[in-house]
Amino acid sequence: MDLSRRHFIEAGLGAGMVGTLGACATNTHGADGIAGAPGQPAWHLGYQNAPSNGFEPEAMKLVFGKPPADLRGSLYRNGPAQFQYGDQYASHWFDGDGLIHRIAIEDGQAVHKARFVETRKRREEQAAGAFLAPGFGTLGDESYYVESSDDVNAANTSVMVVDGELLALWEAGSAFAMDAESLETKGPKVWRDDLKAMPFLAHPKVEPDGRVWNLAVGGSRVGIYLIGKSGELEDFGMVDMGRAAYIHDWTMSERHLIILVQPWINENLRPPVVAGFEWQPQHGLQMLIVDKDDFTNQRWAQAPARAFFHTGSAWEENDGTIKFDVVLYKEPVLGVGGGAAEIRGEWTAANAGVDGVLTQVVIPTNGDARLIETGIVGEFPQVDPRYRGKQRQLTALVSGSTPNRPGATGLSTHNWMTGESRQFEFGANRMVEEFLFVPKAGGSSETDNWLIGPVLNLKAGVTEICVFDAANVSDGPVCIWQADYSWPLGFHGTWA
Ligand SMILES: [Fe+2]
Repeated sequence: MDLSRRHFIEAGLGAGMVGTLGACATNTHGADGIAGAPGQPAWHLGYQNAPSNGFEPEAMKLVFGKPPADLRGSLYRNGPAQFQYGDQYASHWFDGDGLIHRIAIEDGQAVHKARFVETRKRREEQAAGAFLAPGFGTLGDESYYVESSDDVNAANTSVMVVDGELLALWEAGSAFAMDAESLETKGPKVWRDDLKAMPFLAHPKVEPDGRVWNLAVGGSRVGIYLIGKSGELEDFGMVDMGRAAYIHDWTMSERHLIILVQPWINENLRPPVVAGFEWQPQHGLQMLIVDKDDFTNQRWAQAPARAFFHTGSAWEENDGTIKFDVVLYKEPVLGVGGGAAEIRGEWTAANAGVDGVLTQVVIPTNGDARLIETGIVGEFPQVDPRYRGKQRQLTALVSGSTPNRPGATGLSTHNWMTGESRQFEFGANRMVEEFLFVPKAGGSSETDNWLIGPVLNLKAGVTEICVFDAANVSDGPVCIWQADYSWPLGFHGTWA
């Protein structure tokens, strides 16, 4: 990008608009938010409670560039947004109640609104003004009665739209159906009567034709969902993984489901669940490859021990070699620590832990898998939705870090064919969240995409929505809309 453009963005998008240092001065959280908590660092905005009623629809301000004329739709996102009741802090980032955002974009305008998913956990904890339900990193109050996993469902991890229905996703319980316009909660999704409260993972895989595959994880046996384009369950089967590993994400080629068994094992699923996990690197990273047409047709592949949260997407070469991209860690540091220190506003170099590196896993038809590391430190790898399962070149991911705070500082793309990486670095004043591919009107190649995602502007204390051209992210944003307020960092989104 040219220097003047970078300078403009770095300078805080114009002095007249921002002009304030620190997290709190321009933040206008609702009355029950805790924006402006004295003594907290600016980055702690990413871990503060959202207002209990969410955010009413509010037009965001275009503060940079020209919005693409063909960018029309809604960016839905989900993430934990209840971190504190009084002086009681959430003990794990994965246990905060899910807040669903909709950023509706049309004719160059962006309008943000958000609502919490009204789960039983949310209702009872709001009424009590305290954390009660057990969770991934939370012991829970002994008075809180639990009959099924949906009694502790935080509905806080991702979102999906199937046949017009918006679903808030968690990993250990049901998806929650939501109204895609009003964001009001309808209730737990039941795919089939005998699958009520069956886990529905937060990382479903959508075929380019709209069919959806997903997993049900709750121990060493894993369920497989196949959902048709019209939202009806077409098939459900079970496979045995042998070990109860932490399965947060998985991947898929055109012909196979690839379920990764990382050596982070928990044979005792009592709360707090995280306390039961053990790192057992002697098992390595194992992968079960399941035929989509016949779940009993399986084979195993083996790679060196690594932990992971997120994959990109898999494809198969003509000779049957399977390749996929994934961010791999030497150990499961974030999962264990759960961001508890960050939720309290604490950060030391020790919190930084082990970096995740964008890696390609190559599984030959015989023999062990190979890991090809790119050296790009990042998370939230994403691909063009039209190429899921197919041979492709491009991965986008948030990247970069700074020793002074948690969170990413940039956006990168990597081309697996040419080996070329491109990056835009926002600098220390912005925390970068997941960016999604949105195909441009008319184009069909992977570079014919916009990349859209939120960025927390720490200098101004507000959240921004940025759009990049996937053809060259190092040119910097195409446009930026800015809210008058910030919202907490989230996990995942979808474009509809
Ligand atoms: Fe995830």
